[in-house]
Amino acid sequence: MIKIAPSILSADFAHLGRDVEAVSTADYVHFDVMDGAFVPNLTFGIPVLQSVRKCTDMLLDVHLMIDKPVRYVEAFAKAGADLLSVHLEADHPTRIAQALDEMDRCGVKKAVALRPITAAEAVLPYQERLDLVLVMPVEPGFGGQAFMDHQLDTIRRVRQLIDRVNPACELEVDGGINVKTAPLVAAAGANVLVAGSAVYGAQDVPGAIAALRAAAEG
Ligand code: DX5
Ligand code: ZN
Repeated sequence: MIKIAPSILSADFAHLGRDVEAVSTADYVHFDVMDGAFVPNLTFGIPVLQSVRKCTDMLLDVHLMIDKPVRYVEAFAKAGADLLSVHLEADHPTRIAQALDEMDRCGVKKAVALRPITAAEAVLPYQERLDLVLVMPVEPGFGGQAFMDHQLDTIRRVRQLIDRVNPACELEVDGGINVKTAPLVAAAGANVLVAGSAVYGAQDVPGAIAALRAAAEG
């Protein structure tokens, strides 16, 4: 079954409660945290997550595009995250493992994220213990970018790797998802599709979610 995770990066922040409610037919709410260092952009953080938590029971999927994310795992867990993704490029492997330990301690689901430059094999040290792997077919930092086709190979390869040892692990794709790319990533093995501009840029938001789901499920 395909899950759709609208990214509130493309929402209207002056009407965030309304825009979170508008995606209630989706599965997860995707929350993009950027620190102006790991990525050039800055977005929102802990107080905004606390507010979003109060207005939805949906799974809050928090994508940490920040350096040394272990420092903030507990704070985001306490603010209401259900799942946290840390980038494999954002710290040394030992500290990534510590971030996953910290997620266990805080009772949140554990995920790692891969920039386009990062090989699928980078998940190997962590794969048994992950709830989700996030593959990015765009450079992290901004919504509305074009999908890099070569990332279909990474998606397929990650699916192969995790299927061997941890078949329940979800595979999320984030960036450049629309009705054209959704079937491609689903065929490559993704089961969670993040979409920002394709959802919030549409006149009919529930219709856009249904269209993505239908396209991905073929
Ligand atoms: C980009 C973010 C994405 C972004 C996707 O760095 O991680 O979640 O919101 O936006 P679209 O779907 O517009 O590519
Ligand atoms: Zn994201």
